[in-house]
Amino acid sequence: PTIRREDYRPPAFLVEQVDLHIALHPTATRVRARLALRRNPAAPATPALELDGEALTLLSAALDGAPLAADRLHHLPGGGLRIDGMPDSAVLETEVEISPEANSELSGLYLSGGNYFTQCEAEGFRRITYFPDRPDVMARYTTTLEADRATCPVLLSNGNPDGAGELPDGRHWARWSDPHPKPSYLFAVVAGDLVAVRDRFTTRSGRAVALAIYVRRGDEDACGHAMDSLKRSMAWDEATYGLEYDLDVFNIAAVSDFNMGAMENKGLNVFNTKYILARPETATDADYEGIETVVAHEYFHNWTGNRVTCRDWFQLSLKEGLTVFRDQHFSADQGSAAVKRLADVRRLRSAQFPEDAGPMAHPVRPDSYVEINNFYTATVYQKGAEVVRMMRALIGEANFRRGMDLYIARHDNQAVTIEDFVRAMQDASGVDLSRFSRWYAQAGTPELRVWEAFEAGRYTLTLSQSTPPTPGQPDKQPVPIPVAMGLIGPDGAALAEPQMLLLEETEQTYVFEGLPAKPVPSLLRGFSAPVKLSGLTLEQLGFLAAHDTDAFVRWESSQQYATAAMLEMVAALRSQKPLELPEGLAAITAALLDRAMEDPAFAAEALALPSEEFIADQMAVADPEAIHAVRHFLRGALGRRFAARFAALHGDLAESGPYRIDGAAIGRRALRNAALAYLGAAGETARAEAQFAAATNMTDSLAALRVLADSDSPAREAALAAFHARWKDEPLVLDKWFMIQAMSPRTGAAAAEALSHHPDFDLRNPNRVRALVGAFAAGNPAAFHAASGEGYRFLADMVIALDAVNTQVAARMVSPLGPWKRQDAARGAMMRAALERIAARPGLSKGTYEKVSKSLAA
Ligand code: ARG
Ligand code: ZN
Repeated sequence: PTIRREDYRPPAFLVEQVDLHIALHPTATRVRARLALRRNPAAPATPALELDGEALTLLSAALDGAPLAADRLHHLPGGGLRIDGMPDSAVLETEVEISPEANSELSGLYLSGGNYFTQCEAEGFRRITYFPDRPDVMARYTTTLEADRATCPVLLSNGNPDGAGELPDGRHWARWSDPHPKPSYLFAVVAGDLVAVRDRFTTRSGRAVALAIYVRRGDEDACGHAMDSLKRSMAWDEATYGLEYDLDVFNIAAVSDFNMGAMENKGLNVFNTKYILARPETATDADYEGIETVVAHEYFHNWTGNRVTCRDWFQLSLKEGLTVFRDQHFSADQGSAAVKRLADVRRLRSAQFPEDAGPMAHPVRPDSYVEINNFYTATVYQKGAEVVRMMRALIGEANFRRGMDLYIARHDNQAVTIEDFVRAMQDASGVDLSRFSRWYAQAGTPELRVWEAFEAGRYTLTLSQSTPPTPGQPDKQPVPIPVAMGLIGPDGAALAEPQMLLLEETEQTYVFEGLPAKPVPSLLRGFSAPVKLSGLTLEQLGFLAAHDTDAFVRWESSQQYATAAMLEMVAALRSQKPLELPEGLAAITAALLDRAMEDPAFAAEALALPSEEFIADQMAVADPEAIHAVRHFLRGALGRRFAARFAALHGDLAESGPYRIDGAAIGRRALRNAALAYLGAAGETARAEAQFAAATNMTDSLAALRVLADSDSPAREAALAAFHARWKDEPLVLDKWFMIQAMSPRTGAAAAEALSHHPDFDLRNPNRVRALVGAFAAGNPAAFHAASGEGYRFLADMVIALDAVNTQVAARMVSPLGPWKRQDAARGAMMRAALERIAARPGLSKGTYEKVSKSLAA
């Protein structure tokens, strides 16, 4: 049942008004829905109305007040309903029963810790009531909730509060009314015994907005950073885009059992606790940064996603790519933009480039899907953001702002397409973006190559591009690639003004006249396009790492240098040659250390060697053991060579005074802990032991625990046990305990499997599953790819078990088995066998089946 983009048809009926009455009960919630329906003038007339439905028990259905006769009401195979003989407008009333307690999918209405939550994107609303559950049906909603007052004092839904009162038998009710039309995927309910942390925000036109974050009792003290991030996001969107909030309340509720990071439901965002709760003792600096970004992301969706939404799910990047672009820009504005950019690029390369090179490769705007939940991907989100970023670079910041204004003015309260967005940018800027649209249509990462010539002051730079074939797209066209660049002279001074080249054809040549000496080209400054660049020599990379003024190119050049060195070492190891520390890499490291204190956050990023996964991606056939051995050797060798300097850094950067969460403090901790890790790699774990014992914040505690967990120090087991004993009642910290072990090279597949039998492991909690299974399969390549095949077997067992509990999470866990072609024949065969074993399971969900079958077919 493949859904194709080209098959889009407008809905036969529109819904003008939805009035819901939900009587909450753990196993027998009653949902009464009153839908005011109207035939869609833009669709061909059909006599029948089709409604989606899933896991619903229909109790009654009436049209315009009269019960529907059985011959007009048909149950459809997928769980939906068809109603025949529809007039042009009608009021449909249905009542269904659902069981939140039985809902382990975490889609629709479910229970978590005794409280009620919903998740409706993408297709969860149909698990609450019968409805045309597609984003191009936008309606106004009122929601009346009814529940037991003692167990459910809090009753929340979308929009503004609109009445509340008592009922007999200790029950009570509350009504919510949302004035803005919205698609069903933005519907939400939260109910239960939660407490609110409150604040206020006044918009620049004077609307007073009551802000609240709802958490479980005891977590009130952990909401400060989320609340502060929310207020800064609201102010930033006003200042940057002139976009103001549009309701009297903005509520956030945090839940421990959640399939994703968070959800932008209108006026009632629902968040994974991971992206709300933070105290210095329990959350790392990375957690704090994640909270800021995700809170901003969901808030920004209010305009890019909610007010202007998607016509169909193929347009998902219309809201997600744009909103990731906006949250990245926001976070860059809060601190060091250059360091934020490195983190974003690292994430794109570690998650999206492999996707683009693997069996699930798809364009930013996919052409088909079986299960839409499989397309909430790094390509739609992160590459989608890069495409928006390039568009802004091409048309300029002022035009981009004008384009955003035009997009919103034209399409407010509409469900639109990516073409509509590009057209607004084109109309506002006057720049022809028709070719640029290929970025949305073509999968695969373009490869950029550089050639140079220099003669008599004349420097010739030739750039060529090609995009490798991906499943279903054998032939690729060139895409417009903005290449931000500069030319650097032998003394490190700029030889030309920085400029933006636009490579539109397969190959183009650029000539620079009158140069005093042969320059070194600094290309893709700021990572101006999501491409792979090659063609510079090691010597040029070393030069750029030391001399470029662009932080991204400096970092990138040192990473490329290290990559080349590591690939050579892998080759050496495979031909039984002894490993040596490459002097060029030692020199780059020494230079980085010389300047480390100028920008500690940057130094910490630049000191980190490319990941094992990244090195594997550069090889036609990966060798996980050799790659691991090389990286392990290098870290140890660098740690020993610079032991005194790392020790000095670790000492000098020790924090006195109170713990602070600002860019400077985070950067110092990052550099200090990078030094600790190098010392640990060199076998010096005494500092890690001391830091672990003394740490008063989770960043330092976890950094020390990681060093110990990766070492053969006798303190390893004691540290892990102490950490568990201290944090066993803090689920988010316990996740870290699982993750540290899952990613440690000391944890083999058998040990990971053993952890899945630990009493604290829980297949029903997605965070826990990601912390063990996800972290092991995606973050511990040497163990996952163990030659015995145990790692693959463990993952297949987990996918099979999960598929019976939560199909969305199960399908996500299939990804690491996808790139079997990139492994040697023996491993590839075992990976295929694991995929085939999953595929053969009777009753497998369509989402897991889609991932498994596409992986096998590639
Ligand atoms: N729209 C959410 C976000 O902010 C993600 C929701 C995804 N949910 C899902 N079931 N796939 O990115
Ligand atoms: Zn989003």
